[in-house]
Amino acid sequence: MSGLWGPRKAIDAPAARAEHHRLRRTLGWAHLMALGVGAIVGTGILTLTGVGAALAGPGVILSFLIAGLVCAAAALAYAELAAMIPQSGSAYTYSYVAVGETIAWIVGWSLILEYSVVCSTVAVGWSGYFAGFMEASGWGLPKALIAGPDAGGLINLPAVAIIAIVAGLLLIGTRESATLNTILVVLKVGALALFVAITLPAFDQANFAPFMPHGFLGHVDPDGTKRGVLAAASIIFFAFYGFDAVSTAAEEARNPERDLTIGIVGSMLVCVIIYMGVAASAIGAVPVADFASSAEPLALVLRVLGSDLAAKIFGAVAVIALPTVILAFLFGQTRIFFVMARDGLLPARLGRVHPRSGVPVAVTIGTAIIVAVIAAFLPLAEIAALANAGTLCAFVAVGAAMLILRRREPDRPRPFRTPLAPLVGLIGIAGCIALFVTLPGATQIRFFLWNGLGLILYVILRRAGSRA
Ligand code: ALA
Repeated sequence: MSGLWGPRKAIDAPAARAEHHRLRRTLGWAHLMALGVGAIVGTGILTLTGVGAALAGPGVILSFLIAGLVCAAAALAYAELAAMIPQSGSAYTYSYVAVGETIAWIVGWSLILEYSVVCSTVAVGWSGYFAGFMEASGWGLPKALIAGPDAGGLINLPAVAIIAIVAGLLLIGTRESATLNTILVVLKVGALALFVAITLPAFDQANFAPFMPHGFLGHVDPDGTKRGVLAAASIIFFAFYGFDAVSTAAEEARNPERDLTIGIVGSMLVCVIIYMGVAASAIGAVPVADFASSAEPLALVLRVLGSDLAAKIFGAVAVIALPTVILAFLFGQTRIFFVMARDGLLPARLGRVHPRSGVPVAVTIGTAIIVAVIAAFLPLAEIAALANAGTLCAFVAVGAAMLILRRREPDRPRPFRTPLAPLVGLIGIAGCIALFVTLPGATQIRFFLWNGLGLILYVILRRAGSRA
């Protein structure tokens, strides 16, 4: 099959060409949902809540709602496609089926950007909590070794170390790391529940005024910072995604039709509820200005309320459980590489899995090295915004793929159907475009440069015949 955008992949294309290219089906719905929640709840809610509050004031609660709605629309489209096309590769594979190879490459290349920089961002965020934890325990680390050059250090070694540990877990095998992930997710959600339980009694409606000090559409500060509810939503967006990592495990799900839907929609819904609760109770308990610029806003809110012990527990849980986000995205990243290599768009060597463990070893190690280098030297805020750009591109592609396939293959069995599909699809696409436009200008330029580089590589690899 071929279209304007190059050859298309068949929906029911055989997923594997040979035993050493096949992934093992070891994951049930609980593992998949934990993978989703593990990937979603992370640096976004723990740290970007403060950044968002600084950009939007108490109206950041609306930013959460907007970003959540856009992600919910995307999650429904993901669920429909993941259940209908149970192959690894997520948005990349869906674009390959719906549109064609060239667009699939662009989407895959954007996913590589998203997954890598999310790992790096969360590793850097984790390093901040870890350094604070060590400091509080009397083992302060030298600044040169805990921050990149942009933050006044030389190299961020804790960030590198945590990526190495998570990559090691993935190399041991999917089931082991997914089980550990489930335990850590329970811990993380428990800490957020503790946060709400402590802050809710201090709720004061007066803290919500003035509600939108920078307006809804906002304005651009003289230093170039975009402010307002929508600008905050384009950053807060980071907090919501991760459910898409579930769809990259399609070929490892024991019962993909049912379990992928539960994993994607379920983890998304759970997180929307948790986030609205956490954001509302944080704002209600403490004036926004008191925690907006903190590197650890939620722990700070607890301290302001006099709960030092709870703040310590919260910090410790962040250190222990944040790596689940890195785990899910590193997992997703290696699977994207794996599928692109299996499809012949990247060199075939990258698509080999270990005969006993079923893990794509070379790709896991290679990805971990690149992600660690980014985390060691690059500034956190910029890589987080870049991750959002890559994700927004993938979400637009998924919404479009869902709508295209509804038209082209209306009768194909769909174990899960997006309710009000045209409306939900269009809301998702328009919302993603609006958030992309609101991202910092420098981020948009970097995103287009990254994809320009990707297209050059695409032409070179196709000429060299990576299919061979
Ligand atoms: N949603 C993930 C986080 O907030 C990427 O860390």
